[in-house]
Amino acid sequence: MPLNVIDLITADHRDVEAIFDKLYKQPENRPALLAELAAKFTAHARAEESEVYSELAKAAPSERREVHHGTEEHHEAEEKLLELLDTDPTGPAFEPILKDLVKAVTHHVEEEESEILPALAKALPAKRLAELAHAFSAAKAALLNAPPRPVTRTKRELLEQAKAKGIDGYSAMTKGELAAALKH
Ligand SMILES: [Fe+2]
Ligand SMILES: [Fe+2]
Repeated sequence: MPLNVIDLITADHRDVEAIFDKLYKQPENRPALLAELAAKFTAHARAEESEVYSELAKAAPSERREVHHGTEEHHEAEEKLLELLDTDPTGPAFEPILKDLVKAVTHHVEEEESEILPALAKALPAKRLAELAHAFSAAKAALLNAPPRPVTRTKRELLEQAKAKGIDGYSAMTKGELAAALKH
């Protein structure tokens, strides 16, 4: 059976988990592993958003919230990834941030594999899922050839999230204060 887009996404998830494992076990190899992780994670997330999430939102409007939530989780993970890229890989601060990143990504992957991907499989015919494998792979290839930096959330997005979570005094907070308040 030819591979469909769900197979490709799932294989990427296992690949990222293997990099996480190496980041713990090979401290001397962290610079290269982090560069690999940043390129692969960011390309996967952007290709997922442009080729897969958008397609699911069109085919199954009831999944729009889930898709929006998934995109927010990408951005949250990318902020932690940026923090990790700015941290001395041999210093004591590295592992706690790595742990945080692994936790955020594991949570997102679990939700994606238990909700978004099954919804996609239900909403689209097998032929379309196979076509999307090509589109996803091509989008990823373009991004891997010119890796973008991980994204950070805009202040407006942080304000919306703080409002949704009912954080007191959110409207007067700075971007940094909002990000800190949303962490807790
Ligand atoms: Fe994914
Ligand atoms: Fe994702």
